Amino acid sequence: MGVETELKELNVTEGCNKKCEDCEKYFECDLSVKEIFKQKGILSLIRENLKNVKYKIVVLGGKGGVGKSMLAVNLAAALAKRGKKVALLDQVYDCPAVPMMLGVSGDARLMIGEKGLIPYESKWGVRVISTGLILDQDEVIIWFHEMKRNATEELLAAVDYGDTEYLIADIPAGTSSETVNILKYMPDIAGGVVITVPSQISQNVARKCIYILKSARIPIIGVVENMSDTNCPECGEPASIISSGAGERMAREEEVSFLVKVPVSIKVSTSLDDGEPFVIKYPGSEEAKAMDAVVNAVVKHCETIKGN
Ligand SMILES: Nc1ncnc2c1ncn2[C@@H]1O[C@H](COP(=O)(O)OP(=O)(O)OP(=O)(O)O)[C@@H](O)[C@H]1O
Ligand code: SF4
Ligand SMILES: [Mg+2]
Repeated sequence: MGVETELKELNVTEGCNKKCEDCEKYFECDLSVKEIFKQKGILSLIRENLKNVKYKIVVLGGKGGVGKSMLAVNLAAALAKRGKKVALLDQVYDCPAVPMMLGVSGDARLMIGEKGLIPYESKWGVRVISTGLILDQDEVIIWFHEMKRNATEELLAAVDYGDTEYLIADIPAGTSSETVNILKYMPDIAGGVVITVPSQISQNVARKCIYILKSARIPIIGVVENMSDTNCPECGEPASIISSGAGERMAREEEVSFLVKVPVSIKVSTSLDDGEPFVIKYPGSEEAKAMDAVVNAVVKHCETIKGN
């Protein structure tokens, strides 16, 4: 017989329509209906499918264009370079950028094998799962909310993740149901990395990501400040394009670790455009060293929870 717990409340709470799959109160809710939802149907299929994936890591930042995909791609490539088995799940449905950032050719496609959808093996040892590998580049789909949710369910339940050690999920901009859904559907997330640029507006949204992770009880590995201090190309002196240090301040205020500043850099932007992550293209550079700090923190965090 399974574990029995005391029923504290009947599901008569105002506002509960029993549609847990779409409910914004999911992480705060402790009604019995939610427990049934968790044990039945798609969630248990996903749990079963991901049971051999050792660590699931989410990269989020809330605001658009702050470098979430840059971080996810370089983190994945750096882990693969260290010999880890890595898969990168691109959760961005509107104009997914991950395949291009990993140099995957425009006509590459996800194939279906005996055990499900087969992730695409990129040149850098990162296996990629993205709707960019299902649709043609010039194909435009209007992704309505429910379609995104269904796609998330399918990519988690029907992809053959094999012996993946690190599954990195690149979470889309915003802190709406799209973000909440992946956190809800992906079981046992090992940790989240939050990225922000030094502007106040970006930080405000990054703070919301921290709140969401906290309410979902997902450990926060740390905050990365992107497009931070750089050196002036003319005189070589340190220069801050946007007011630097703000990410570090936010991390302190929210009592989470601050990991590193990634400089605004042409090496970062061109390497992404060229499809060769800078951790591979420019090893030993300031940019790659910054990413090393992120990788070290992720690995240390994961090994620690494994040891628990
Ligand atoms: N440190 C950096 N220096 C220079 N360019 C950068 C840096 N970080 C990111 N970029 C550039 O900024 C753009 C946005 O980065 P990226 O696509 O990673 O952001 P994002 O947060 O994933 O955006 P979206 O919300 O659209 O998914 C890209 O063109 C990338 O090349
Ligand atoms: S998460 Fe809770 S409040 Fe929301 S639909 Fe499910 S049981 Fe109702
Ligand atoms: Mg992105």
